[in-house]
Amino acid sequence: MAKNNVSLRGKHVLGLEDFSRDEIELVLETAKEMKSIIHRDIKKVPALRGKSIVTLFYEPSTRTRSSFETAGKYLGADVVNITAGTSSIVKGESLRDTLLTVEAMGFDAIVMRHKQEGAAEYATKVVTHPVIVNAGDGAHAHPSQGLLNLFTLLQHKGKLEGLKVAILGDILHSRVARSDIWGMRRMGIEVHLAGPGTMLPRFLSEEPGIFVHERVEDAIKDADAINVLRIQLERQKAGLFPSKREYARLYGINNARLALAKKDVLILHPGPMNKGLEISPEVAYGDHSAIQEQVQNGVAVRMALLTLVLMGGKAQ
Ligand code: NCD
Repeated sequence: MAKNNVSLRGKHVLGLEDFSRDEIELVLETAKEMKSIIHRDIKKVPALRGKSIVTLFYEPSTRTRSSFETAGKYLGADVVNITAGTSSIVKGESLRDTLLTVEAMGFDAIVMRHKQEGAAEYATKVVTHPVIVNAGDGAHAHPSQGLLNLFTLLQHKGKLEGLKVAILGDILHSRVARSDIWGMRRMGIEVHLAGPGTMLPRFLSEEPGIFVHERVEDAIKDADAINVLRIQLERQKAGLFPSKREYARLYGINNARLALAKKDVLILHPGPMNKGLEISPEVAYGDHSAIQEQVQNGVAVRMALLTLVLMGGKAQ
């Protein structure tokens, strides 16, 4: 699959728009090897021994932060976590000063999440040595989530090219949707979007391979996978959808709607879920759901990313 001469060493991971097909394939191949490490009795390889990683999170996170931390630790790196609420950020320290501070400590990688779009790219201009890995910048990008979704699809379907994937819900506020769309299009996946008109950027329908639907039913018809997005209640402006009940009725994924997709349809959700809103509990925990597996794949993909950007190679 991936060409031998592709290297991600030293590459800042800002968004999947910067990733070629070969680069994505390299991450996915490496993640497959990494996943076997997670299943070992002793989950420790020396691939990143002597390297140090800081996670710098200005927004809440359960999965992303802890999976980057776990990934670094399984690979033998030293990992330190800084979260906004318990650091000098509450004393008003600027992003620039915080970045310079962690650089001075010698970190090799800064994994960061920030509410401002472009924050990770800004960080690349502030520091010189560390590699920046964007773990979510506002509504812009969440590249490792996009990659883990691709990895989960590949593991289940055995290929990516030619798949039909529906992405449902709050496309407008979703960095996951944006990274999914870039990554999926790069890999030849047909993308079908649906959600309330107020949450659907119309310009996307002009892009090749992207189809925007008014009705969820039309988007999920014969889909190989459905990626259900969380309604980003914290980023909402008033009036984007009538009521939670109405949203669940018109756009929520339940067993009745699932029947419209392919028989072996895969359900993805980045978490955290609003159960009963965008997804019903029976779908979230049902046979088609890969939601828990996505979490494990998130560790494998982040192990792959960290190894590739810090060492350029693969783990032993
Ligand atoms: C996503 C995020 O924070 O962008 N969550 C995650 O990383 N698993 C999605 C979301 O919050 O809806």
